[in-house]
Amino acid sequence: MIDLKINGQTHSLDADGEMPLLWAIRDILNMTGTKFGCGIAQCGACTVHIDGQPTRSCQTQISDAVGHDITTIEGVQGKVADAVKASWQTLDVVQCGYCQSGQIMSAIGLLSQTPKPNDGDIDSAMSGNVCRCATYSRIRAAIHDASSKLA
Ligand code: FES
Ligand code: FES
Repeated sequence: MIDLKINGQTHSLDADGEMPLLWAIRDILNMTGTKFGCGIAQCGACTVHIDGQPTRSCQTQISDAVGHDITTIEGVQGKVADAVKASWQTLDVVQCGYCQSGQIMSAIGLLSQTPKPNDGDIDSAMSGNVCRCATYSRIRAAIHDASSKLA
């Protein structure tokens, strides 16, 4: 068995240690907020936090996640997360929504490290999150909006 701590709860999984964390989250634990996009660390749809760091769960083996704090979109909370979620709603960022869990996880990671990011900081932190609906300008505006609430 492999024990994973996800959203503050320990889950014992009967799974191969080489299984991608994304598979465990979605297929075994049925937390479907984290999305499968490319499977090769190119799109960011599968982004979760591991010890607070945005991480591509499609390229993380569950054996490497043991002993770490994993947070998915279902469990993200706190001042930064609240500000990001509120700004995402106020600015109506979402179009189809498929990429947005990953976008939000990356945005929370950025604002947790850099509460007042400039456009360059935002572009570099968000460059690994692809949006096929091209919501990039609203994402950037929402990050600035969330940042203004974190003064
Ligand atoms: S599904 Fe993991 S980066 Fe695309
Ligand atoms: S909102 Fe559709 S892929 Fe980003």
